[in-house]
Amino acid sequence: MTGSGQTELRRGVDGAFAKMGGDGSMSPEAMRSRLIVGLDVPTVRDAESVVRALDGVVGCYKIGYQLAFAGGLEMARDLAASGTRVFLDMKLLDIDNTVAKGVEAIAKMGVSMLTLHAYPKAMRAAVAAARSSPLCLLAVTVLTSMDEQDLVEAGYEYDPHTLVLRRAEQALAAGMGGIVCAAAEAGAVRRVVGPDLAVVTPGIRPKGADAGDQKRVVTPADAIRAGASHLVVARPIVGARDRRAAAEAILAEMAAATDEARN
Ligand code: C5P
Repeated sequence: MTGSGQTELRRGVDGAFAKMGGDGSMSPEAMRSRLIVGLDVPTVRDAESVVRALDGVVGCYKIGYQLAFAGGLEMARDLAASGTRVFLDMKLLDIDNTVAKGVEAIAKMGVSMLTLHAYPKAMRAAVAAARSSPLCLLAVTVLTSMDEQDLVEAGYEYDPHTLVLRRAEQALAAGMGGIVCAAAEAGAVRRVVGPDLAVVTPGIRPKGADAGDQKRVVTPADAIRAGASHLVVARPIVGARDRRAAAEAILAEMAAATDEARN
């Protein structure tokens, strides 16, 4: 990994997510790019209705396995072509050559962000393949569904927290654009990766919202205070009676916490 390669990828972070002002202030547009709404719905029709409801409020959507394999990849292309940011949550992992070819093809779709598992060789192959594109590569450290026993069963010697930090370090060294981690880990991860990488956290619940199957949830404000730069939110917005109002309330909470951190 060369130094210039790293610079280009870090530039990918800024391209994917509008940047803060020099005084740490953030335009409404920049703030909007930091809220990523998960399109966790079964059909493209459902996804389009979410996007319509959030038009002008949300500028970034995450498409994962469920929607991707039900027509969502075509929708991802269309959204990207219309200027909307798309986070493709494909959690890639394969031999270097296959990862590299996959990343090259995904970069051509025009999406802004792509996840892969934080294995050093796969990350290095992906970074090299994405070098000439603005695609921001995000490393999934340890899935939040894995506890210590699950890791032992899978053959690892590390507890989840130690492995998260080790992989965050490896992602930084590989030139990745950011890290996906539980909000509870965001502070420790931010200390490892420094200020320039995106720290993207799911498991967000505004006060009073149902946690669903998420075990450790934090509020939008607490995630920002902990060092998260971007929040992934699905059910609290997609499942809300008034999706637009739900997204606006979360954005307002994020903006207040960002201002508070600045002052
Ligand atoms: O509905 P909810 O806001 O809990 O959705 C969170 C989104 O983030 C889902 O798309 C989920 O797959 C994703 N995610 C997660 N935990 C991780 C990684 C991704 O909840 N560790």
